[in-house]
Amino acid sequence: MENYIICNCKQVSYTDIEHALENHNKMEDVLEVFKDVQRITHCSTGCGGCHDKVLDVISEIMMA
Ligand code: FES
Repeated sequence: MENYIICNCKQVSYTDIEHALENHNKMEDVLEVFKDVQRITHCSTGCGGCHDKVLDVISEIMMA
């Protein structure tokens, strides 16, 4: 599986986000899920530059 770094500041990988999403289902609001992923992995709490990338990855995984 893809295990590239999504958030450079906090070194959060695709797989880290995937794991953080394990307790979520497709019906949830992406922005709410984002907050939870952020809380768990600390992604997007540095420069914030990865924000859209993180959202994209969350959407992608949730749609899968
Ligand atoms: S790259 Fe994610 S907060 Fe900077």
